[in-house]
Parts: sequence; C-alpha cells; structure tokens
Amino acid sequence: MARERIAIAIDGPGSAGKGTVAKGVARRLGYQYVDTGAMYRAVALVADRRGVSLDDEAALTALASGLSFRFGWDGDVLRVFVDEEDVTSAIRTEDAGQGASRVSAHPGVRGALLDLQRQLAAAGGVVMDGRDIGTVVLPDARVKVFLDADVSERARRRHDELVRRGEVVAFHDVLSDLEQRDARDRDRAAAPLRPADDAVIIDSTDMTIRQVVDRVLALVSVVDTVPDTH
Ligand code: DC
Repeated sequence: MARERIAIAIDGPGSAGKGTVAKGVARRLGYQYVDTGAMYRAVALVADRRGVSLDDEAALTALASGLSFRFGWDGDVLRVFVDEEDVTSAIRTEDAGQGASRVSAHPGVRGALLDLQRQLAAAGGVVMDGRDIGTVVLPDARVKVFLDADVSERARRRHDELVRRGEVVAFHDVLSDLEQRDARDRDRAAAPLRPADDAVIIDSTDMTIRQVVDRVLALVSVVDTVPDTH
C-alpha cells in the first residue's frame, strides 16, 4: 500500500536545529521542505532595501502580499528566490533575522504569508518549519514537533555557524541576540511561539541531528499505521 504523504510541522526557537532536521526528514521521505522563516526574512530584507520602516504594518503587509517565493534544491542547499532573485545568502545575516522577528509580529504581514504557506502544503508530503506551523498554519498536520534546546547550546551552534561563514562576532552578542529574538517571538500577540497542544517536544541539547531526524521519522511511521482522525 502506498504510504500517505502527510504534513509535518516543526516549530521551535531560533537555532534549535529546525531547518537542518526538517531538511533531513524531507530528504529521507522525499517530501518538500518549506522554510517559513525564510519568507519573513525576505520581507525584512526587501523592506530594508526599499526604505520601508519595520514598524509600518500597512506598508509591510502590502509589500509581503506582492512578493513571489520559490524554493529549489541546489545540491544540499535550499535556494530561496524572491521575485526570482536568489536571496539565499542575503537573508541569513543577523540583521535579516532580527528584522524578520520584528516584521513577523505584525498580524497583517502574517496574514499575507499564511495563504501562501498553506498552498505550499496543500498537496501533502511536506515538512514545514517555523514558529506557528503546528498552532496556526497547519493545525491538522499529522506530526507536530516542537524542537527546543538550551539557549546557551543554541547560541553555541549559531556562533559556530557564523564563524564557519567567516563572520567575526562575540559569543555573548550572539547569545543576547537570540534571547531578545526568542522573547519577541514568544511574547507577541499574533501567533506567538509556543508548542501546539498535540506537539511532541524534543529537547535537542544533547542530541545529534541524526538522532533528532530518526526521532521524527519514528513519529511519522507511528502515524502511518493509524487512520487519520481529522
Ligand atoms: O527561523 P528563522 O530564524 O529563519 O525565523 C526568523 C524570524 O521569523 C523569527 O525570529 C520569527 C519569524 N517567524 C515567524 O514569526 N513565524 C514563522 N512561522 C517563522 C519565522
């Protein structure tokens, strides 16, 4: 019997490993991977280029509604295209991350991206990661994971990644940026970061990526054996 192609939601705070895990799971299952954080990052990047204030909800909402997004694999790298421009590297800076956290607090911006995110998952066979996938975007996702890790471990991973990219940044700055971003994402009124009631919480502090991917795949195979009650 052909396996059902389900939706898998992976939420959690910054640098918990969501993207790497989501990609690993998508690869193993032959699913699409949708990085919703990249969409908020792109909105912040384009706003910055066009001189739109990150506090101007109406202008940001109009901007977000007008953008087109496309994701495509290039070997192991998932390329992100916005209005057909490759923004894969441009959206990975600390500024784009902080900007994304700020623009994502506006309900108008979230609403503008929500339909698009749902469309990307409509065909099934998708792993989507973000902050509100299990709670708001795909509340019927068959597997929901909330991936967490100690903040100091997350800061260490983020710092390592920046150093690998050749950026010179102090560990304590990375840590305080992460703490600030997490607080903003958790405390906002619109779709705050929190685990869905039916999410499985995985603490990856002492786990390897491989272990987390296997854990998620185990959840998927359990779901595969029980009928959908949604
Ligand atoms: O996962 P990330 O670091 O690329 O996300 C950047 C910011 O975008 C994050 O701080 C909050 C926001 N975001 C969101 O509000 N909802 C999502 N589904 C994904 C990201």
